[in-house]
Amino acid sequence: MRVLDTVDAMAEACRSAQRPLGLVPTMGYLHQGHLALVRRARGENAALAVSIFVNPTQFGPGEDLPTYPRDMDRDLALLKKEGADLVFAPSVGEMYPQGMNTWVEVQGLSQRLEGEYRPGHFRGVATVVAKLLNIVRPDRAYFGQKDGQQTAVVKRLVKDLNMGVDVVVVPTVREADGLAMSSRNVHLSEEERRAASVLYHALRGAKRLWEGGQHDGEMLRGAVRRVLEKEPLVGKIDYVSVADLATLEELDTATIPAMVSVAAWLGKTRLIDNVVLGADS
Ligand code: PAF
Repeated sequence: MRVLDTVDAMAEACRSAQRPLGLVPTMGYLHQGHLALVRRARGENAALAVSIFVNPTQFGPGEDLPTYPRDMDRDLALLKKEGADLVFAPSVGEMYPQGMNTWVEVQGLSQRLEGEYRPGHFRGVATVVAKLLNIVRPDRAYFGQKDGQQTAVVKRLVKDLNMGVDVVVVPTVREADGLAMSSRNVHLSEEERRAASVLYHALRGAKRLWEGGQHDGEMLRGAVRRVLEKEPLVGKIDYVSVADLATLEELDTATIPAMVSVAAWLGKTRLIDNVVLGADS
């Protein structure tokens, strides 16, 4: 496994890598959710590249960039065990050198849901993903369904800019009680951690209602909200959404493909989760 920290060295290594080449972009502090992406990519490609870069431009002022968990040594040991060929771990200065002044914005999609609460977030995500795809030029790039809106934004970006990369979306990996794996879960207190599975239970409840024939978007959103509100440790609920999977437009009638998603606070930690109607995840 080679670890590269400059754009030129990574681009050169990728040019001589075997094909097909898969890329798993991450911000590190790897958990089982990331490893599911890595294993899927390892199985489907002759060569595997993983990037580890905590991208400052996707964090807003006052967000958790300074406390975002990091453990490069552990990440590299895990990736070596999983058989990664190339790891790209650039510095902030390498990715955003003085004078860099081009930004990628997927309009519309980026302003909904997370975009309303985290303005500029998807501009940062789209820009860094475009840069990573241009540096690595993979055949396939892997993203988790856990960040459902991000997958919609990345698919749109790749299509709109004719990037010719296959975007592969991997189902959410969950803890035994249903909590979606996330690097931010480490910030939950013991009590909050116990309460946090309510997000998944609320979403599962809506999915069961939908499977039982309740397709009214407002009824489904209400059902999710009621379950969340019963949990005393859930603070502010930023949104409950039943939206088209690709456009993220809110649906009056939930026809597939649709995504039920939530963002809610447990103490100082903001959690997001989603389920896709008519699919396993
Ligand atoms: O999902 C993430 O970890 C990040 O948003 C990504 C795709 C690596 C871009 O920084």
